[in-house]
Amino acid sequence: MTIISKDILKAVALLSDEDIVAIPTETVYGLAGNIYSEKAIKLIFETKKRPFFNPLIVHIPSIDNLSKIVEYIPEKAKLLAEAFWPGPITLVLKKKDTIPDLITAGKDTVAIRVPNHPISLELLKQLPFPLAAPSANPFSSISPTTAEHVETYFKDKIKMVLDGGPCKSGIESTIIGFENNEPIIYRLGSTPIEAIENVVGKIEIKNKKEIQPDAPGMLERHYAPKTKTVLTDNILDTIKLYSKKRIGLLVFNSEFKDDTISIQIVLSKNNDLGEATSNLYEALHQLDKENLDVIIAEKFPDHGLGKSINDRLERATKV
Ligand code: TXA
Ligand code: MG
Repeated sequence: MTIISKDILKAVALLSDEDIVAIPTETVYGLAGNIYSEKAIKLIFETKKRPFFNPLIVHIPSIDNLSKIVEYIPEKAKLLAEAFWPGPITLVLKKKDTIPDLITAGKDTVAIRVPNHPISLELLKQLPFPLAAPSANPFSSISPTTAEHVETYFKDKIKMVLDGGPCKSGIESTIIGFENNEPIIYRLGSTPIEAIENVVGKIEIKNKKEIQPDAPGMLERHYAPKTKTVLTDNILDTIKLYSKKRIGLLVFNSEFKDDTISIQIVLSKNNDLGEATSNLYEALHQLDKENLDVIIAEKFPDHGLGKSINDRLERATKV
């Protein structure tokens, strides 16, 4: 049976014993293990059914630990870490030889971040090793934003979910790589691109072109409900295409009135992109349970977190 608990010491004991524990972060729940334990890391890949070519993110308690993991910190990486950690930015940097190849899928770079969640920060401070933690979902399904989502996915395949409540940011961290010391966005995420540009200037987004094994989280279909899902900027016309079907609607800020809609979730009545982001995955989990024929999702404004939401919805709707 999976224990859902706030007991940090129990998580410390399991992780120190080379076991894995689902942990809360501000973005999504992660499935965590000691980066130096081959046993724990293999268990993470097996439990998620994740291919070994897809590297993991290393979680550390503070920026001070960075120089133990990476060979070299470009100036702009330092600026970003200082501006956003703890927080939802992951930096991909040249790894030290001591970082196991299993974590990085054989690449010479490692993805690393300091999560902004009091429970996982406390856990990381108590452990003598960093934690590798991919999102705690089976490969390519919707990421979990509550302890219950994790439990539903893995049942008794994991011993413990460390409960930190619902994740506040709600989608994964923004991943930034470096080419010739210049930052490039590999994955849009919880830190809006404009906030990043305020620190390091104009930045290129490379995630659409990225193919495995460079940033496999950018695989075309990802973050996907089991229910057929479509993305549109014209809800009413799209509804007409599914007139005899059970339709679920996922919209930004206001309800649509149409008799053919079975269920409808408004992500932010306050027209707030942060609130919409934080509700996105919970809404997809909910709609996916409703035995719908189709989920119709509304396209978001193409700026700030709207850009990141569109990225996830585009991947969720790829067939
Ligand atoms: O918010 C998050 O980032 C969450 C929480 C738990 O921290 N973690 C997360 O991990 O989303 P995961 O494994 O689901 O996604 C990590 C992504 C993958 O797309 C992987 O390909 C990419 O990071 N990645 C990891 N190491 C990399 C590297 N060396 N080079 C390029 N991409 C890398
Ligand atoms: Mg993931």
